[in-house]
Amino acid sequence: MCGIVGFIGNQQAYPILIKGLKRLEYRGYDSSGVSMIENQEFNQYKCKGKVADLEALVSGKDISGTIGIGHTRWATHGVPNDVNAHPHLSGDGNLSLIHNGIIENYATLKEALMEQGHVFKSDTDTEVLVHFIEDIMSKTGSDLFEAVRVALCEVVGAYAIVVMDRRHPNRLVCAKKSSPLVIGIGAEGDYFIASDATPFIEYTKNVVYLEDEEVALIDRQSGLKIVTIQNQQKDPYIHELELKLEAIEKGGYDSFMLKEIHEQPRSIHDSIRGRLNLNHGMLKMSGIDRHEEIWMNANRIIIVACGTSWHAGLVAEYLFEEFARIPTEVEYASEFRYRDPIIQQGDIVIAISQSGETADTLAAIELAKEKGAFIFGVCNVVGSTISRATHSGAYTHAGPEIGVASTKAFTAQVAVLYLIALSVADKRGTLSKERLHRLMAELSTIPDKVEEVLKTNDLVESIAAIYKDHRNALYLGRGYSFPVALEGALKLKEISYIHAEGYPAAEMKHGPIALIDEEMPVFVIATQGHSYEKVVSNIQEVKARKGKIIAIVTAGDKTVSELADHSIEIPKTDDSLVPIVSVIPLQLLSYHVAVMRGCNVDQPRNLAKSVTVE
Ligand code: G6P
Repeated sequence: MCGIVGFIGNQQAYPILIKGLKRLEYRGYDSSGVSMIENQEFNQYKCKGKVADLEALVSGKDISGTIGIGHTRWATHGVPNDVNAHPHLSGDGNLSLIHNGIIENYATLKEALMEQGHVFKSDTDTEVLVHFIEDIMSKTGSDLFEAVRVALCEVVGAYAIVVMDRRHPNRLVCAKKSSPLVIGIGAEGDYFIASDATPFIEYTKNVVYLEDEEVALIDRQSGLKIVTIQNQQKDPYIHELELKLEAIEKGGYDSFMLKEIHEQPRSIHDSIRGRLNLNHGMLKMSGIDRHEEIWMNANRIIIVACGTSWHAGLVAEYLFEEFARIPTEVEYASEFRYRDPIIQQGDIVIAISQSGETADTLAAIELAKEKGAFIFGVCNVVGSTISRATHSGAYTHAGPEIGVASTKAFTAQVAVLYLIALSVADKRGTLSKERLHRLMAELSTIPDKVEEVLKTNDLVESIAAIYKDHRNALYLGRGYSFPVALEGALKLKEISYIHAEGYPAAEMKHGPIALIDEEMPVFVIATQGHSYEKVVSNIQEVKARKGKIIAIVTAGDKTVSELADHSIEIPKTDDSLVPIVSVIPLQLLSYHVAVMRGCNVDQPRNLAKSVTVE
C-alpha cells in the first residue's frame, strides 16, 4: 500500500524520489505526488494515475530542491484523484506531508479544526493531520519536530509520515506507528526515508528502522535525532542491509511475477540450505532450538496470516498435525483479532507474512502477546515489523518479492514450515528416524523437481490460451492439495480478474457441482497418493456433467490423464511435499491467462503488495 520516499542531502531530490516511487510501485497505488523545497517554496506536483503520469505532469516544470518527499497513494479516505493525492499542505501552505496508514479519529480532529476556521480541500485523513500539526505550531510556537510529536500523542490509528516546512529546508521530520518506515544513512550528509529500503539501496546499506511511536528529526547540521512521542530520547541503531540491487530488478524477464516464478528452485533451495544436514541426518532451526522447551510442551498451535500466507498456513496445519502431532488451527488474522480468542498455557502462535508488515497479522500478534502466547514468525523481509514483534522465528530466504501476486514467497513459506514441523517432530519423537530422514531427503530434491515442472511452461501456456476467455473456474484438491486449490484460484482471480473458487474436492457435491457445465473449467490436483482414488471419483462427477478437467497428475499417470481434457505432469514426491511442486503450473497458468487478457500481472488493479491498513 502507500509508498513513501523522502530525501535530504547534497543532491537534487527529485531524481531520487521518482526512482524511489517507481521501486515502490509494487506495493499497489492509484495516485502519486512529489514535493521539493527550493528557495523556501514548494515545488509540489501530484496526480491520479501512475508514476509515469506524474513524470509527464512535471515535465518542463521546476523540480529543483535538495530536500523532498514523494508518495504513491492507495486510496482509503476519498476516491483516487488529483486532490486526494499526497503530499497535502497545511492551511497556511507552510507544511507538506505524506502519510501511509489511517488516522482513525480524523473526523473528530477535523470537526474541531473546522470550528477554528480550518478549510479542507481533500477528503483525506492526511490533510487533517497536517492541519493539526500546523495548528499546534501556531498555538504553541513549537517547531515542526515538537509539533509532530505532540500531534501524534492525540492521533489514534496507523501512520508512517514524512513532513517538511518550507521555511526550514534544512530539516525533515518523520514518524511511524504500525506502518513501516526506514531511514537510510548515506555518504556525506545524505539521508533517505522510505517505506522499505528498495528505493535507496544503491546509495547506502546503513539503515535505521524506526520503531512504533518514534519521531525522527533529520537536520542537515546535526544529523539524526529520534524521540518517542512521549519525548524519550532514543539512540538510533544502525543495521546493515544485505539486499542487492539485482534482486529488485527484472533480470531480463517481462515481469517480476514471471521472474519470481522461475526463481523458485533457487529460493526454495536458499530457504532450506544450511538448515538440512542430510549427511548427519540433522535439522538446524535455531529459532526452534533456542526455545526447545516451549515446543516440547506445546499443546496447540494457532497460525495467523492473510492471503497467500494463510494458504501456506493451511498446508502447515496438515504438517504439524501429521508430523509433530500438535493440534493446529489456522486463522485469518483479521478474524482472530476481532473476537476474544482463548489463549491457554502451551499455545504457540505462528504468524506467517511475506512482507512482515501486514496490519491485521501484526495486530493479531499483539493481541496474542497480550494474552501470554509465545509468538513465532515466518517472514521473508528481514528486519520487518512482524519479524521484530515476534519472540522467535525463521526467515524464508525467497529474496524480495515484487509481483503483487505471491509466488516464490509461498513455496519458500511451505518449505520453511516443513522444516519447522520436522524439527519439532524430531524433538518430540513423533516421527520415526527412518521416516524423518526419508522426508528430509525428499525435501532436498524439491528444488530440482520444481525446475522440472517449470519445463511444462509451454504446455501450460497452450492450456491458458484455451481457457483465457472463460468467466469462472473451479479448483479442487484434497488433503495437502486442498490449500493448493485455494491458492490456484486466488492466483487466477488476483491477476486475470476471472472469478475462481477453490474447494476441497469432496465438498463439490455440496454446492459447486451446481455450477458445472461445458463452460466450467475445473482444475484438479490429482496426484497419486493418499486420496487419489477419491479424487478420480470427483473427476468422474465433473465429467458426467460435461465440465472440462485440467488435471495436475503424477508423471506417468494413466487413469486421470485418460479422463482429463488436459493433464500436466509433475514429478512424484511425498504427499506432504506435493503443494510446493503442484502450485507451480497453477502459478504459470494464471500468469499466461493474465498476459493474454492484457492485464498488468505485477500490479493488478485494486491490490496492494503490502497491506498496511486494517
Ligand atoms: C496482500 C498481497 C498477497 C499477500 C497478502 C498477505 O493481499 O497481495 O500477495 O499474500 O497481502 O501478505 P503478507 O505480506 O502478510 O504475506
